[in-house]
Amino acid sequence: MRLSVAYIKVSRTVIASAFTPPHLAIGEHVLRPFRSSDAADWCAYLADPRVTEHTSWPPITPELITSLVDKTIADYDELKSLRWALARASDDKLVGSCGYARWSAEQGSAELAYDLAPAYWGFGLMSSAVRAAVTWAIDAGYLNRVEAFVMTTNERSIAVLERTGFKRGSVLKGFRVAGGVARDFYSYSVVARAG
Ligand SMILES: CC(C)(COP(=O)(O)OP(=O)(O)OC[C@H]1O[C@@H](n2cnc3c(N)ncnc32)[C@H](O)[C@@H]1OP(=O)(O)O)[C@@H](O)C(=O)NCCC(=O)NCCS
Repeated sequence: MRLSVAYIKVSRTVIASAFTPPHLAIGEHVLRPFRSSDAADWCAYLADPRVTEHTSWPPITPELITSLVDKTIADYDELKSLRWALARASDDKLVGSCGYARWSAEQGSAELAYDLAPAYWGFGLMSSAVRAAVTWAIDAGYLNRVEAFVMTTNERSIAVLERTGFKRGSVLKGFRVAGGVARDFYSYSVVARAG
């Protein structure tokens, strides 16, 4: 099964119903759909230079993050992308994000992306979130291949990918521009079935 939208047959009319991201429990945290009210918490830690220094994020502004949250929510219906908020289960506060920045239902492939507030680094939280997001997408039959592109200097993110079973592919020279400079990235992937 590789469906991006659920179809409900009612009498002779076929109605395409909107996709809703599942809630995935991650210990004391949860991957849940974004809400408009998450923008301030997301922006607060993305503005920390440690979070974006080894990424191709453009300069962080409240306007940029508000529009990205709006787009993230709008993309859920037709599964154009699927980024979850990573929130504390106790009070629902966003402390990270994890999910698929690009999703191709036709190819059964998607690009993984994630970020975490620095106060939560070093506890294995993102590795658990990545495992949950990838396991869900493959086990549900949505994806066969998950890709990730990581700047060659991003040691923490490389460690997350290798800890969660991603395999390194090639070095992509000058793959994405960061701070006005074309930077080298590694491609990583997890493939459920190949051949
Ligand atoms: C990439 C990023 C999410 C990684 O965060 P992280 O906290 O290092 O990763 P995890 O949450 O998986 O935690 C792993 C750390 O917890 C430790 N840990 C503790 N318990 C653990 C457990 N049960 N399982 C796994 N790791 C555990 C690991 O040893 C590791 O510690 P170390 O870094 O001191 O070796 C974070 O650095 C970040 O947000 N960076 C900025 C954004 C970014 O680069 N995004 C990716 C773009 S490609």
